[in-house]
Amino acid sequence: MKKPSSEKLIFGLTVITLLSMITNANALIKSTLKSLSGTDIYNGLRGQSFNEDWKFYKGDVNAAQERGFDDKEWEPLSLPHDWSIFNDFNNHSPAGNAAGCLDGGIGWYRKTFKLPSDYKNTKVFIEFDGAYMNSEVWINGKFLGKRPYGYTSFEYDLTPYLVYGGSNVIAVRLNNNQPTSRWYSGSGIYRNVWLTVSNPVHVDYCGMFVTTPNVSKNSAAINVKNTILNQSGEAKSVKLKTILLDANGKNVAAQTSSPVKINAESSATLSQDLTVSKPRLWSPASPYLYIAQTQVIIGDSVVDTYQSTFGIRYFAFDPNNGFSLNGVSMKLNGVCNHHDLGALGAAVNYRAIERQLEILKAMGCNAIRTSHNPPDPQVLEACDRLGFMVMDEAFDVWETGKNKLNDYHLYFKDWAKADIQAMVMRDRNHPSVIMWSIGNEIQSPIVSTAATLYKWVKAIDDTRPVTWASNNMGGKNEQAIAALLDLAGHNYHPEWYDSMHSKYPDSNMLGSETVSAVRSRGIYKTPADQKVLRDKDNQCSSYDNGSDKGASEARKSYKDINNRKYMAGEFVWTGFDYIGEPWPYDWVAKSSYFGIIDTAGFPKDIYYFYQSRWTTEPMVHLLPHWNWTSDSNVAVWIYSNCDTVELFLNDVSLGLKTMGDSLHLAWDVQWSPGTIKAKGIKGQSVVYDQTTTAGQPAKIKLKPDRTNIIADGKDLVFIETDITDSNGLPVPNANNMVNFSVSGPAVIEGVDNGDAMSRERYKASSRSTFSGKCLVIIRTTKVPGSITVTASSRGLTSDSLTVNSTKVID
Ligand code: GAL
Repeated sequence: MKKPSSEKLIFGLTVITLLSMITNANALIKSTLKSLSGTDIYNGLRGQSFNEDWKFYKGDVNAAQERGFDDKEWEPLSLPHDWSIFNDFNNHSPAGNAAGCLDGGIGWYRKTFKLPSDYKNTKVFIEFDGAYMNSEVWINGKFLGKRPYGYTSFEYDLTPYLVYGGSNVIAVRLNNNQPTSRWYSGSGIYRNVWLTVSNPVHVDYCGMFVTTPNVSKNSAAINVKNTILNQSGEAKSVKLKTILLDANGKNVAAQTSSPVKINAESSATLSQDLTVSKPRLWSPASPYLYIAQTQVIIGDSVVDTYQSTFGIRYFAFDPNNGFSLNGVSMKLNGVCNHHDLGALGAAVNYRAIERQLEILKAMGCNAIRTSHNPPDPQVLEACDRLGFMVMDEAFDVWETGKNKLNDYHLYFKDWAKADIQAMVMRDRNHPSVIMWSIGNEIQSPIVSTAATLYKWVKAIDDTRPVTWASNNMGGKNEQAIAALLDLAGHNYHPEWYDSMHSKYPDSNMLGSETVSAVRSRGIYKTPADQKVLRDKDNQCSSYDNGSDKGASEARKSYKDINNRKYMAGEFVWTGFDYIGEPWPYDWVAKSSYFGIIDTAGFPKDIYYFYQSRWTTEPMVHLLPHWNWTSDSNVAVWIYSNCDTVELFLNDVSLGLKTMGDSLHLAWDVQWSPGTIKAKGIKGQSVVYDQTTTAGQPAKIKLKPDRTNIIADGKDLVFIETDITDSNGLPVPNANNMVNFSVSGPAVIEGVDNGDAMSRERYKASSRSTFSGKCLVIIRTTKVPGSITVTASSRGLTSDSLTVNSTKVID
């Protein structure tokens, strides 16, 4: 749900303006369903953004929770905020390279705000979409609670402790006592915070559950359950009016319940059945969304309104036939992703999430695994809208830790129920979510723990299968656990697929994690057809030859999955490179090599392999670049979905090859300068890819992802920066230092070049190029206007471009 900011600054304090309890449905629908670039998304109705006017202190302080504490020297900032990403890389960081050499530690946040006196008869809640980690929260010096797991969303009731008409102080202490995750976690209130003001009789936090128990072409049965909390101090007779709206805001079903008495300080869950005729089904190809909106009515007054988007779709896993959606068999062509957003760190930003998904969509990816923790809720909003199926995952550890010191195993016993149920409650209305995962590669897994987690999930949602991701399906406990789950997720070990399928013929099977091959964008190691894992430059190869025995080439894994009808699909490790886990160069690098796309969002060659398998629009991709030396014999590879591909060097044919069943084509070419060109033919369509020998670096070329953006202080422009020769040809090995400057209402949010070895800061205004490219990310302010970005580099011709930042358009 897109929320207009309703915060106003008065005398340096934030005053929350009263939200109308009854909101115009059409305006909401419009804002919910239109493009959401750059703006926070809230999955409910009543929350107002509470991200602005916070104060931050890096370190521990005594008594900072007290209302009267003096925070005037603290740093003013807006959330989401990840303090770790601002650090220099530290080789002695406690979590080491696994967490990207970026320190965690302790940090405090405070926010002072005013509430009008006429709020006295309302309930006021604060919601955190996630804060990493070990959060402790106080309001006006009163302790509200702690949440160890940094990936969970949670809510507190502020009402009893508030001062109306005067100022209030929220204080939050976080402790990321590294090592806490096996990857870069970030540190801070790195997701959105919301303030909800409601009537004492209201729909509970995450209290609406929409299911589609029966779906056919002609009609869909929709069940809407709402948990209503009566905190008014007296019994109330409550009825609910629920309407379903299509994507145009048209009312397609409505139902008003009979009145139900809810006692004081009690709750009741009311169920309503509605029917949508001729439903439009949700799928990755057509991600059609509806809205369910419920009004809570007492007498003639609507006292609360709550809504959720939902989709109408059905799916099945079958032990012999794999996965189908809306009756159509398909593979899950998925990727695993960690949550960081490259140069933004873990601080969430809707546009950055959307851009990642757009890049994956263009590759033909249809599924995401949120490895290995619940994602920011906006990831799921974006998956609903752009059409991705999601494996929503709870944990990387249960009782036994992987980072023995400080990871979640310390808290699992006391918090697992609250955390896994928080994930399911929050995410259960998303059509994108098609399965819950109770864990990844759990060490020494206990069968009864799996059974308990399974039960806790099913108690909240029994409409989706529960799975896990195991890399040890040979183990006795692992097999027992897989047998009690709805779906057996296999990490790696394709050699076990068939034997497990024979041994457990009723088991649904999925490649929950595959591949883990490593590559550096634009770097090629030979021999191309043999494994080349490590090299002295600490870079990996972009031919599909960077895997070891625990992992597979992309092509092999594709065959392992696609030659087996019973396998539901695969989740490739990983879609995007992430900060941390720089295997196989753990001791020198700081970000991963596993990604199909680098941390800056630039596709590696393997991207086009997946595109050739996962899309049908004719395409051909040629690798490597064409800047070699005259004694080189170059392995030229082609990824394509065409019938035939012909290769030309300087317009002389080097032969035509048929794709047939081959997943790539290869030519051994004696290099000479000029243009190497591939011509793909598919039916009547002809497509080309080519690359030309470039001269010396001479110019900079800027390419923005968008030129019209929103002046909301959040929207981003991602500008790809290429080094070219004097003719404008990209120089594939250029490593020039580029300096960026901005004029107009915007700031530089970060820079990157996707090089796992780079120790240059993400928060900076200059960056060296890696394999000819780097990225600068520009963020708008709230002031509209024209923004000019200029890139310069010693000895090169500069480039600049202009983007327009405008106020939100209805
Ligand atoms: C898997 C694990 C992932 C990542 C990957 C690297 O076993 O589940 O989190 O560590 O290995 O290859």
